[in-house]
Amino acid sequence: MINTMKPISSKEIRETFQKFFEKNDHLRIKSASIVPKNDPTLLFINSGMAPLKQYFTGEAIPPQKNLCNSQPCIRTIDIDDVGDRHHLTFFEMLGSWSINGYFKETAIKLAYDLLVNHFKFDPKRLVASVYKGNPDLKLEPDHESAKIWQSLGFDDDHIVYQDHADNFWGPAGETGPCGPCTEVFFDTGDEFGPKYKSGEHFDDTCRYIEIWNAGVFMEFNKEKDGSFSNLKFKSVDTGSGLERMCMVLNNHQTVYETDLLKPLIDENQKQIPNISTEQNRILADHCRAFTLMLAEGVRPSNEGRGYIPRRLIRKCLVIIHQHRAEFNFDTIFTLIQ
Ligand code: SER
Repeated sequence: MINTMKPISSKEIRETFQKFFEKNDHLRIKSASIVPKNDPTLLFINSGMAPLKQYFTGEAIPPQKNLCNSQPCIRTIDIDDVGDRHHLTFFEMLGSWSINGYFKETAIKLAYDLLVNHFKFDPKRLVASVYKGNPDLKLEPDHESAKIWQSLGFDDDHIVYQDHADNFWGPAGETGPCGPCTEVFFDTGDEFGPKYKSGEHFDDTCRYIEIWNAGVFMEFNKEKDGSFSNLKFKSVDTGSGLERMCMVLNNHQTVYETDLLKPLIDENQKQIPNISTEQNRILADHCRAFTLMLAEGVRPSNEGRGYIPRRLIRKCLVIIHQHRAEFNFDTIFTLIQ
């Protein structure tokens, strides 16, 4: 059993998150299309902050300093991981931002309040990661965030310093706003691996599941030559995957058991009774992703953005063909091969 909390629907989680931030002076803004506008660095919107990049650089003025929303995202780098417990190419990201407003202390305190007092997480089952720093890049360790978590009752076994690959987020694309981050992990319990002890290796692949990037502390702009310059002002960018949050809050062991994906899994099983678990997950994820892409006007093609739906559709057809050889897929295969 992952936790002892009451069942909660994805709709309720989405609303709880956004209402919490609204009550704390954030403006709820509309989500953007998954097709980026005026951003040649991205094929698809891959995070809640991607459509808001110009607010972080100061090139555009936000309607209010503090914002929140729920943003559909596509992560093409995760295509080959789909089939495991929680990787998805399409997911919804719950996000909150403070543009040139509050910084680390308020961001972490808000995260703690929402998780513990509203979603009712037991704080003993949460672990926070902070940035270890990187002398080569002249970036300091984030002791300030660690101290704030400490002030909230997190001891050394619940705070882990991680390196650049894990705790420095961005940019979304090759250049742009980025910074060190602090993430929150949920401890799914002894049956999923050894408990983390201060100073030991922190394994976030099984026992500890990331539920919220509770603050990217946007301070830097990554330039074309790979160097970091200072942004004009500091901002906070948070993001939590709705499917993963829904999985953890409902004691599920995979995102495919949540109300967001289970209906698709059940239908696939009905249509193809011999489908394997992994194939079923791939079909469920990829169908959601390419349906959204097609609905947003992206057409399969053999280059650029259109290559992604083509690849996803082709993978689904190969799976279906394996089980339904009686169907003639020749025409479709010719179109998308
Ligand atoms: N941009 C960060 C992320 O995607 C926080 O939202 O994890």
